[in-house]
Amino acid sequence: MINALKGMKDTLEPENRIYNYVISTCERIARNFGFEYIETPILEETTLFKRSVGESSDIVGKEMYRFTDKGGNDVCMRPEGTAGVVRAFIQHKMDRAAQPKRYFYHGPMYRYERPQKGRLRQFHQFGIESFGFSDMREDATIIIILKEIFDALGIEASLKLNSLGCPSCMPSYRENLVSFLDKTEGLCIDCLRRKETNPIRVLDCKNPNCQSLLVNAPRITDNLCLTCKDDFASLQKLLNEAKIDFEIDKSLVRGLDYYSKTAFEFVSDAIGAQSAIAGGGRYDRLVEFLDGKPTPGVGFAMGIERLLELVKAPEEERNGIYFGVMESSANTIAFKSTIKLRKIVKVALEYEPKSLKAHLKGADKHNALWCACIGQEELNENSVWLKNLATKEELKLPIETFEGGTWLITD
Ligand code: HAM
Repeated sequence: MINALKGMKDTLEPENRIYNYVISTCERIARNFGFEYIETPILEETTLFKRSVGESSDIVGKEMYRFTDKGGNDVCMRPEGTAGVVRAFIQHKMDRAAQPKRYFYHGPMYRYERPQKGRLRQFHQFGIESFGFSDMREDATIIIILKEIFDALGIEASLKLNSLGCPSCMPSYRENLVSFLDKTEGLCIDCLRRKETNPIRVLDCKNPNCQSLLVNAPRITDNLCLTCKDDFASLQKLLNEAKIDFEIDKSLVRGLDYYSKTAFEFVSDAIGAQSAIAGGGRYDRLVEFLDGKPTPGVGFAMGIERLLELVKAPEEERNGIYFGVMESSANTIAFKSTIKLRKIVKVALEYEPKSLKAHLKGADKHNALWCACIGQEELNENSVWLKNLATKEELKLPIETFEGGTWLITD
């Protein structure tokens, strides 16, 4: 037997129904905030992620599904959505058009991680990216969007917030941090590598020994330039005004290199160790890094699989018709009528002759509104017996009336 690859899964009902409910809720809210749908390819040039997510990140360094295609191109399956959206933004000359531009997207992402509960190798994200505003009101707005999505889905999550500074305050902070790290003995091998490639990433190390060694490490929020300090303060004020609770997490650095200033994560303590259900931040230099006209950007992505555990989709109302026969000779009529009826309503046709009781059970299992049945009596009369499973009303209709479907229209 061939199984799905490790860390990848098939999804069936009812999970798919909840998935669609989550996506349609996110989409409705994103559209209310003026975001438009964008779709980018799953396969991109590897260079795109090296230059955006960053070679020092675990995502690019260790986790990419990367291969050479038949044309000799170095390609990989997208590990996240932002880089592709930024590439498309530049490729379609949106960086040269009037700003702002706001997009949302959803779909599969691929990371070769060690699978565990809440951590997959193929997972799905819903994300938004907003271009053209450096004002903190846009950062506040995207956090408000996430909060509205969580409220609509009945999810409780807490917000962790940090500022990662900008090119004017980051270099001197990095120097401070490196000199602290140089004096610190006992860091893990990963941290020693991070110290050389992207020292700020050391703060994110999950190793408990490193965490204890880093308690007194300098923090970027204590080293921000005046502009970053003001921006961080005004973001906090906007969130307070919007009544969104948050906690400043000075160790929050995010696993992707493109951020500056705002960085945030929403976490839930109801789903186990992989508690981050959404993350995002500002990336004011990314468009420029990818050869576009300098344009500020800010966005987020949420992990749909992690949300599914927390969401209860509303019960689906009874709908459509379940159609069964009690005599096999009725199958010809039932089959023909169903072809006509399916142009206007959902019909589940059961070929196997069964008792009325069994068909009523079947209709209930299909969550059908109507159970339709043809037995010997109906065959003789050229009619169909019907029961409305919500109102319990029973009736008989001539077959032509039944398959015409007008009886389904109520005022
Ligand atoms: P990220 O934090 O890497 O950010 O991923 C966003 C969310 O995707 C996470 O909070 C988590 O819920 C989910 N996720 C990540 N990895 C996995 C996995 N292996 N299995 C299941 N779920 C996972 C980004 O991807 C950025 N592009 C977000 C962004 C958009 N920043 C600005 N704009």
